[in-house]
Amino acid sequence: MTSFYPLSVSKVQNLSPAAVAISFEIPDHLAANFAFEAGQYITLKHTIHGKEVRRAYSISSAPAASGPQKEFTVGIKEVKDGAFSSYANRYIQVGDTLEVMPPQGRFVYKTQDSPTHLLGVAAGSGITPILSIAETVLRNGPQHRFTLIYGNKTPEDSMFSEEIAALQEKYPSQFKLQWVFSQTTESHAIFGRIDTAAIGYVLKNVDTDPFDGVYLCGPEPMIHAAKETLLAQNISEENIHFELFTAAASAEGQENNEATATGQTKEGQISVQVTVDGETSQLEMDTKTILLDALIKADIDAPYSCQGGVCSSCICKVTEGSASMLKNQILTDSEIEEGLVLSCQAMVTSSSIAVDFDDV
Ligand SMILES: Cc1cc2nc3c(=O)[nH]c(=O)nc-3n(C[C@H](O)[C@H](O)[C@H](O)COP(=O)(O)OP(=O)(O)OC[C@H]3O[C@@H](n4cnc5c(N)ncnc54)[C@H](O)[C@@H]3O)c2cc1C
Ligand code: FES
Repeated sequence: MTSFYPLSVSKVQNLSPAAVAISFEIPDHLAANFAFEAGQYITLKHTIHGKEVRRAYSISSAPAASGPQKEFTVGIKEVKDGAFSSYANRYIQVGDTLEVMPPQGRFVYKTQDSPTHLLGVAAGSGITPILSIAETVLRNGPQHRFTLIYGNKTPEDSMFSEEIAALQEKYPSQFKLQWVFSQTTESHAIFGRIDTAAIGYVLKNVDTDPFDGVYLCGPEPMIHAAKETLLAQNISEENIHFELFTAAASAEGQENNEATATGQTKEGQISVQVTVDGETSQLEMDTKTILLDALIKADIDAPYSCQGGVCSSCICKVTEGSASMLKNQILTDSEIEEGLVLSCQAMVTSSSIAVDFDDV
């Protein structure tokens, strides 16, 4: 579950001045490990300046329609002073080998036989999982439709614009597209950001049929605005799915951090029993340390990627004792009741705890 596998880079393509698409070849013996659902991400591991970094990247290509998965592609946008995204954009070449953790994630579209009408809303690099979902929906047959709202600063900044044009050409009656640009005025686009007004415009003028589901990926303010607008349009919350790429400090997180900092958790040592990949280990940690940090320090091979509470790869189940999360935008109330926690956000609140990464 937590293993990384060496995969060879089969293609590198510039998507914009600051974004690159990287494709990986999947050898036959790893096809089952790297089978994925549209919307999922992989984690890349690399050592940069002597420090191991792990970063999550959503798969932009669609899952194999039939037969084993032979390849997949990710799109990486360079962020200012970003350790891995800068490395990827400047140095990764065809033939390089990278350590890759198999696909994970709950932001998924499962192929349906019944007619599907979905809305995707993406800003910037948030297009990656949405593109995979769009292609998966559209190729499934003429009864399946997809409308995309895609926001960027300028057309030149927009990742995967050629692939999107190809979808428009291939599926003219199934695929609708609304561009949004915040820094240039274009005749075919809304000027500004993806906000209530932009989404309202699309629902009124571009695609007026009710949607069965919505997939949102972009910065947190966009996701909040989109969610509020769509809820007001009577799209139920369970049909609105979202993926965040970066963690924003939430008010809840700050409160919990303060609770921890002001000593509301117990002082002293905690004994931890942890099960990962069928192996159970014991360790001691102090009350002020985040559970995942203690596991990494003890060389326990627990799965993790973002360490910011947004990717879900570090979920484990508390089977004895208790823990509270600094921040949670992923687990539902019923999952928390079942004992699930994001270990990268978990502060242990009992004197001993047992957690299981396999039973999730
Ligand atoms: C589930 C998931 C899927 C993701 N999919 C993609 C994807 O498909 N394509 C993609 O390009 N990225 C994606 N990301 C983001 C990616 O994992 C990295 O966070 C991003 O590439 C920055 O890493 P870095 O090492 O370059 O920057 P870091 O060295 O980690 O950060 C450098 C600075 O940039 C800021 N920063 C970090 N990430 C971002 C960001 N996304 N936008 C703006 N500022 C940021 C940090 O706060 C910090 O100040 C995804 C993240 C998650 C959790
Ligand atoms: S490591 Fe990403 S949510 Fe915990």
